[in-house]
Amino acid sequence: MQLLLGQTLGFGADPFETPHDEAAKHQSHGAVLIDGGRIAATGTASDLIARYPRADRTDYGDKLIMAGFVDAHVHYPQTAIIASWGKRLIDWLNSYTFPEEMRFGDPSYARATADTYLDLVLANGTTTVASYCTIHPASVDAFFDAAEKRGMAAIAGKTCMDRNAPEGLMDTPASAYDDSKALLQRWHEKGRARYAITPRFSPTSTAEQLEAMGALWAEHPDCLMQTHLSEQTDEVAWVKSLYPQARDYLDTYETHGLLGARGVYGHAIYLEAREKDRLREAGAGLVHCPTSNTFIGSGIFDMAGLIAAGQRVGLATDTGGGSSFSMLRTMAAAYEVAQLRGVALHPSALLWLATEGSARSLQIADRVGTLAPGSEADFITLDLGSTPAIAQRSTQAANIWEAVFPTIMMGDDRAVTGVWVMGERKG
Ligand code: GUN
Ligand code: ZN
Repeated sequence: MQLLLGQTLGFGADPFETPHDEAAKHQSHGAVLIDGGRIAATGTASDLIARYPRADRTDYGDKLIMAGFVDAHVHYPQTAIIASWGKRLIDWLNSYTFPEEMRFGDPSYARATADTYLDLVLANGTTTVASYCTIHPASVDAFFDAAEKRGMAAIAGKTCMDRNAPEGLMDTPASAYDDSKALLQRWHEKGRARYAITPRFSPTSTAEQLEAMGALWAEHPDCLMQTHLSEQTDEVAWVKSLYPQARDYLDTYETHGLLGARGVYGHAIYLEAREKDRLREAGAGLVHCPTSNTFIGSGIFDMAGLIAAGQRVGLATDTGGGSSFSMLRTMAAAYEVAQLRGVALHPSALLWLATEGSARSLQIADRVGTLAPGSEADFITLDLGSTPAIAQRSTQAANIWEAVFPTIMMGDDRAVTGVWVMGERKG
């Protein structure tokens, strides 16, 4: 048994529903007990030291111990094209993304990129991601292998596209079904791996392909299904022209069996009233990707409105449309985007979104994203004074929220001083 001492921060409730000082559980002299790769107990340092005197004890001083970040929407194959200049969504896909994704026809390139990507996110304190792969089945194997090697919980799926993509980057309805099925049989619930059926988005799938993905999901309802929804106005208009019968963008998924509680929809900026109703009724997950939405010029997500209306929302980098691997930077961008809608998200809400909120959007909050006893021991330590600029601000802090907010707004991988995966230190 290991006993880690430090400041601890967890949540007993959702800070969007419960006042933040009741929802958050902060101990300035706290402790986390790890046993067999799981969190066994949390509490005050003095209490846990008294109860577990023989545990192997490490004192992290005033470092903040909290759950590892959960990044609910990423494209690991876009690692090498992050920060590519000057395009909006469709041009960005055609100019940068698709050419790069072609390179994943080479399994050794996929393996090297998966390693690079997971090392980067771990260094940034992200312990779980949900990733799109490419159309190549080997890109999925590469990713799950790399996650398994690090002991990480990972969600991923083969990205399916059968139109409006370059030759060499398209499958068919039948091959998408067969390949996805073989991959999910190989990976879903193998150790910490979970499979997500992954039609990229309606513009790159025919109705036949969406139908095939819906059929596969109906046969494997315990898998997630991840896709993109209403990210840019041009994209929404394109979907309308490709699917003239559809009531709206979501309807292109809904009529093909691709709406459900285990559905995870990236971006969701331009939603019509019917779409919001159906997403809420289905209990689907919406994923906000703020650095992507500003970088690609997509628009201003309505975090407060959607959550108040009962939507389940997670937070994500959307690497490489997003401009960062860091969930700290992503929280900062979420704060700024919400400010543009006149809402100041509290630091507790931002930290909750980056951990438990994202885990809930992926239906894995019973395992990761919290410090709750019984959950898998994926957690980090943060230095709340990691740079001179942050330190001079946080020393003025009157409480934990003022102490942590400068790190949310200005922090990066230098703030992440320790990363544990299933109770094992990784960085
Ligand atoms: N829509 C369809 N594919 C993508 C992608 O790779 N990135 C983003 N941001 N949006 C998409
Ligand atoms: Zn995406």
